[in-house]
Amino acid sequence: MSYPFQIKSEAAYHQAYQQSVAHPEQFWEAIAQTFQWQKKWDQVLEWNFKEPRISWFKGGQLNITENCLDRHLAEDANSLAMIFEPNDVTTPAQQFTYQELFDKVNQFAWVLHNNGVKKGDRVCLYMGMIPALAIATLACARIGAIHSVIFGGFSAQSIADRLQDAQAAFIITCDGAHRGNKTIDLKNVIDDALVQCPFVQRVIVYMHTQTPISMKKDRDVWWEDEVQKVIAAQQTFFPAVAMDAEDPLFILYTSGSTGKPKGVVHTVGGYMVYATYTFVNVFQYQKGDVHFCTADIGWITGHSYIVYGPLCAGATTLLFEGIPTWPNAGRFWDIVDKHRVANLYTAPTAIRSLMGFGLAPLEGKELHSLKVLGTVGEPINEEAWHWYDEHIGKKQCPIVDTWWQTETGGILISNMAGITPAKPAYATLPLPGIQPVLVDEKGTILEGNAISGNLCIQFPWPGMLRTTYGDHERCRTNYFATYDNLYFTGDGCYRDEQGNYRITGRVDDVLNVSGHRIGTAEVENAINSHTGVVESAVVGYPHDIKGQGIYAFVIIDSLHGDAQLTQLDIAQTVARVIGAIAKPDKIQFVHGLPKTRSGKIMRRILRKIAEGALDQLGDTSTLLDPSVIASIVDGKL
Ligand code: WT7
Repeated sequence: MSYPFQIKSEAAYHQAYQQSVAHPEQFWEAIAQTFQWQKKWDQVLEWNFKEPRISWFKGGQLNITENCLDRHLAEDANSLAMIFEPNDVTTPAQQFTYQELFDKVNQFAWVLHNNGVKKGDRVCLYMGMIPALAIATLACARIGAIHSVIFGGFSAQSIADRLQDAQAAFIITCDGAHRGNKTIDLKNVIDDALVQCPFVQRVIVYMHTQTPISMKKDRDVWWEDEVQKVIAAQQTFFPAVAMDAEDPLFILYTSGSTGKPKGVVHTVGGYMVYATYTFVNVFQYQKGDVHFCTADIGWITGHSYIVYGPLCAGATTLLFEGIPTWPNAGRFWDIVDKHRVANLYTAPTAIRSLMGFGLAPLEGKELHSLKVLGTVGEPINEEAWHWYDEHIGKKQCPIVDTWWQTETGGILISNMAGITPAKPAYATLPLPGIQPVLVDEKGTILEGNAISGNLCIQFPWPGMLRTTYGDHERCRTNYFATYDNLYFTGDGCYRDEQGNYRITGRVDDVLNVSGHRIGTAEVENAINSHTGVVESAVVGYPHDIKGQGIYAFVIIDSLHGDAQLTQLDIAQTVARVIGAIAKPDKIQFVHGLPKTRSGKIMRRILRKIAEGALDQLGDTSTLLDPSVIASIVDGKL
């Protein structure tokens, strides 16, 4: 399959960009036509950012799995769809052709159907990074159920919150997951979550780690038993359910500046077109290349660039169960050589962590198969960029720095590998169809170059979120109400003399820890739930490997045991409430927090203290009690 929409030169990029702005509907219609639709759309685009109401390819009907699977069978049935590299180096890798993946997805679609899952039902997936997760994801899409994948690092409480919000009656999980030398007992965590979720009717459990688990009669069933029933009943082909272009495909929960994660909703048609278009163009994917995205399917990066984008493009996608440092820090490079990986797409935090091991783990690794390197999730510092370029790409592989968000569905700002120039630490230029603007605090659009502002997008693109599940008003206030008629990203940004964009980080109360998004309010709520805690304030501070670390200032009224134990207790509470990924790196006990006379915590000051920028505390005279500052500074960790 060749890609009619693949941009092949810098001039073609500029031409496509101009056209996408001048005639957006024509532009996206031509791309959408290259996909398989059951019924053509009546209208390409309908939108307003006020409500917001965004609809792409309205009236069109399709099933995304026909695009990921069925349509490749004619010519590419025996091409590799997916390679699976297990956590354990002695366990053989697995390969799935498009035919094999198609068969497995159809089979599991029958399992879902036989278990009562219907179009529009919400299905929660809480699994390790194994082929069954990709298969379950696609099987949901095939029967029209809305999947909500929850990252394996979230706690029982977080799962319960999400299940309740989505009213998900079906769960697919594993007994456990392997990560490095640890086993994560996923089913046990699910059991804890379900104590609060009586509406859950069915839990389908894939056996992977042989961890002892409890199976509740009439609720829990084994994946393999259900598959055997499907085989016995000779249920093979499952007709892909017709979906309206604007029917939801999935919900993915992400953190915002308020305490409760929000369920970002993506719809079938626009998401498919956008994820595939950006996959092919940013990575300049060539048929036969092995694409290795190291993200977890529990995040949007995994949805768009492990599952949907690559499979819609008929690509070979590599799924890795383990972690970069196990059994040693050469694991990624071994995988690259073993499976002849062409595209490696990872997070700056992984690069920085591997840099820390020096060059020894690279000895004996060839890395000759690599063609394109990518980064995602957080700003990449120049040092890490150059290390990636020199030691991994051997200065032969373009690096794409891809900026986007859970809400955007796919990459919005990035260079295109070998087509448009890279600039270290810059995401560079908007992809065709994307109209970024920088605004000042009042929302005035800042024209011209060499300027900083808040990053907004002023025109819809097919992959953008449509709503936040069950609460459209929240979607409006979060993204469309800050500035009139603009989608607000929450990121600060600099545009250089040539018009290249450099993302400088969040301007709201959202942290980016190892490429994971964590709301400060969520962490504060978790800390405040600990006995003895009166109040807390959480801010980010620069961290060499994680990008940002979590710094908590906590007021307590009583110590149970010593201070150090109480700090550990608080960290444990956060792990219980949210998950280990949100544990504070530093917890400082304070007697007071800097507040304005109206009682608002002045985080700006706390951020400066956490950063150690004590000479930049600014004007503290408006504080209710300026003396708290000196005492906080004294106790700084
Ligand atoms: C936030 C979105 C997009 C998938 C992974 C994260 C930051 C993302 C970059 C980049 C600088 C980046 C932004 C954004 N971010 N990519 N290339 N350069 N910052 O998705 O969890 O929704 O987080 O990650 O701050 O708003 P997410």
